[in-house]
Amino acid sequence: MVNPRPETVHVLDNHSLVRHHMSMLRDVSTAPAAFRQHVKILSLLLLAEATRDLRMRDCAVTTPMEAMQGQQLAGRIAAVPILRAGLGMTAAVTELIPDVEVRHLGFYRDEQTAQPVRYYDKLPAGAPADVALLLDPMLATGGSACMAIETLREWGVGRIVMLSIIAAPEGIRLVTERFPDVIIYTCVIDRELNDRRFILPGLGDAGDRMFNTVGE
Ligand code: PRP
Repeated sequence: MVNPRPETVHVLDNHSLVRHHMSMLRDVSTAPAAFRQHVKILSLLLLAEATRDLRMRDCAVTTPMEAMQGQQLAGRIAAVPILRAGLGMTAAVTELIPDVEVRHLGFYRDEQTAQPVRYYDKLPAGAPADVALLLDPMLATGGSACMAIETLREWGVGRIVMLSIIAAPEGIRLVTERFPDVIIYTCVIDRELNDRRFILPGLGDAGDRMFNTVGE
């Protein structure tokens, strides 16, 4: 039996704001504009936790009163949204980390097999970022996350941190078993996947709700 919450998995469901916005996000009557806003707010809350210990360097600061030593971010940080739904989390990262590199990966999940299919991957050859923040609101089977992590490993990224808004136990288990050094931050771990590999109780398909393509 694998521990469903190993040390590398951080769940923010004890935070009042996370619970509030998660409930709005789950609600079937939440319209696309509000859905995108709740995704962004939850992404900001996740990011604040996931970036507590980034590498820093000293810098000189002059306040209106005197000179002092401050600190600023050091090293290259990449945000890696998995299309489409990861796009909804990207603005949170670019606002909090203005110099972040955004590297898109395009995967969709085959409806019959639930396996990820790659359709966009433009990581440059060599020169990997020091840290990758992998963005996908949903971690269901974990297949898409594993494909993305393998891709980032091939690029040469040393440290990978995954941010998801909602996760299933199956996805958490797969990622932590295959990549025990990847840190996962999620707002909540739901009960289970159904036979179509959708998260229960879940929130439906985040990409469809975000981009108003439900039912297509
Ligand atoms: C959803 C979701 C994740 C993936 C999770 O994407 O946004 O990328 O499925 O499932 P997994 O953990 O089982 O791989 P989807 O295929 O619906 O594409 P979309 O984001 O374009 O809607």
